Amino acid sequence: MGLPGSPASHVEVEDVALRFGRRPVFKDLHCAFPRGQISVVMGASGAGKSTLLRLIGGLQRPDRGHVRVAGEEIAGRGDAALSGIRKQLGMLFQNGALLDSMTIFENVALPLREHENLPEDEVVRRVRARLEAVGLPDVEDLLPRALSGGMLRRAALARAIVMEPAIVLCDEPFSGLDPPNVSRIEALLRDLNRELGLTLIVTSHHMASSLRMADRIFLMRDQACLSGTPLELAQSQDSAIVEFIGEDGAEYLARYASGGEGGP
Ligand SMILES: Nc1ncnc2c1ncn2[C@@H]1O[C@H](COP(=O)(O)OP(=O)(O)OP(=O)(O)O)[C@@H](O)[C@H]1O
Ligand SMILES: [Mg+2]
Repeated sequence: MGLPGSPASHVEVEDVALRFGRRPVFKDLHCAFPRGQISVVMGASGAGKSTLLRLIGGLQRPDRGHVRVAGEEIAGRGDAALSGIRKQLGMLFQNGALLDSMTIFENVALPLREHENLPEDEVVRRVRARLEAVGLPDVEDLLPRALSGGMLRRAALARAIVMEPAIVLCDEPFSGLDPPNVSRIEALLRDLNRELGLTLIVTSHHMASSLRMADRIFLMRDQACLSGTPLELAQSQDSAIVEFIGEDGAEYLARYASGGEGGP
């Protein structure tokens, strides 16, 4: 449970340590992601953002510590025990490509075919609803190579949400996209959060969009993480945070102070 008045955590990482060979990635990692909110995980390349999502998704075991999803411990559990929890999680992988030889429809339908035994008309209904939700109503018969980068990202997002998960993990959903597509994906994630009440955990290097969309930002550094609202981070006097947030933070504060769009 969260503190009185604050939303309860949906995902908790507690006291996690992890190393790959001799390289420590996390030493004493604690972070709690609130239910129904957008959490954005930031930090330098190699800080462990993707690894954190893999821990939450049960794809990577910690050496020590707890990972709880919807109150259930997943650290150290085997694949069979994890399958129920994984159904609650949608994942958009970093550079997560769709399968080249399958149509967009079949790519999006894949998790349903793997995990559910639904009648075909229900598969069709769900896939179409999700493609519509991401603004791609007319591409179901196309192969991935016929879509632009921004469209592919949206199709991958449709696949991530086709199981109607309560939590969606998105690894770098903005990378490699031009500004209009960044805005489009950002709006889409916000809509999914607002309309479906999804808990979103998004990694990003994109400071401006992170400050705009995040309810909470998690900054990974020194094998641990610190977190706060965008306003708290933009106002921080900590020199490492000031440097990390940079000009975008100052701009965000100025907009917020003037009551403009972009404030919390
Ligand atoms: N399977 C693995 N085996 C060995 N080392 C790994 C493995 N996965 C990640 N690492 C190392 O762990 C560290 C964190 O990697 P991770 O991919 O989580 O970083 P990141 O913050 O997502 O970086 P980026 O912003 O570049 O995506 C890096 O030093 C990486 O080399
Ligand atoms: Mg990464």
